Amino acid sequence: MTDNQKKDWAVAEIIDWTTKFFKANSILESRLDAELILSGVLAMKRLDLYLNFDRLLTLKELADFKVNIKKRIEGLPIAYILGKKEFMSLTFKVTPDVLIPRPETEFLVEEVLRVSRNMEVFQKFDINSKILIVDTFTGSGNIPISLAKHLNKILYFIYGIDINLKAVKVAHENSLLNQTLRDVRFLHGDILLPLKIFSLKGMVDIITANPPYLKTSVLSTLRKEVKCEPKIALDGGEDGLIFYSRLIDQALDYLKVGGYLVLEIDPELNFLITEKLELNGFGEFNLIKDLQGLDRVLSVRRLS
Ligand SMILES: C[S@@+](CC[C@H](N)C(=O)[O-])C[C@H]1O[C@@H](n2cnc3c(N)ncnc32)[C@H](O)[C@@H]1O
Repeated sequence: MTDNQKKDWAVAEIIDWTTKFFKANSILESRLDAELILSGVLAMKRLDLYLNFDRLLTLKELADFKVNIKKRIEGLPIAYILGKKEFMSLTFKVTPDVLIPRPETEFLVEEVLRVSRNMEVFQKFDINSKILIVDTFTGSGNIPISLAKHLNKILYFIYGIDINLKAVKVAHENSLLNQTLRDVRFLHGDILLPLKIFSLKGMVDIITANPPYLKTSVLSTLRKEVKCEPKIALDGGEDGLIFYSRLIDQALDYLKVGGYLVLEIDPELNFLITEKLELNGFGEFNLIKDLQGLDRVLSVRRLS
């Protein structure tokens, strides 16, 4: 498909051509990616491509399509090309300023929904004392927004925090997109420190976090797709633990005794994180495995 080739391309034909081209360039989900990019360019649902197999692309559509397949070949993840990603059956805007939400993080959301139901049993209904959830390292806002969509709005209020102002803006846009502006407030700053101005010391019921947890040394070995994601979202320092340590220290200021901390973890760091939590008065550990059978989510309760 060169620029000087004068040819009309129909939907079916261009999907087949691109699938082969992607395969030749070692793109794993070659047909799926070809269809997703084309459905983005034609602004139609992927399945509707099948009802429009004979439709010819306009010159503008063909030009846009070429730009996007070039980006894919260069390693840009499909979610950044489309500008969106599904998470917990909701649609989130994503840009290269935010991590692309991962399916394994849905286990964290499910666990928070479980511990929330425990909390509701003990919560007396009072309009002034909502259950307070804080999601730090929030990125696109996928965790707090999904929680807001699933929890009873009358009982909860949720904060999302990120140190990257561009991520905070994306999170806010996602809140608008998913109609949770009244239930979630996004703050800019380091881990839990933005809560200070709201005098929330010792007031938070549940803290959730998916911090950067890759060791700095592995960053250069990542697939080119992952290298397109923000380094600030991936780099967990020399041992991958820096943000867990800092989070646990700050959580002691803000989390209620009896409150929950729900973390996504690197399975290899499970032992070290658990040890640090035990030393700091946390217990009632619940470990959840991801679809690969790896320890991925840890929820714990502050006991003292
Ligand atoms: C692994 S991503 C998680 C994004 C999202 N929560 C998710 O699960 O898809 C980590 C996020 O932490 C943010 N971050 C890094 N250092 C931070 C800090 N000191 N305080 C708050 N956020 C930070 C990054 O900007 C990034 O958005």
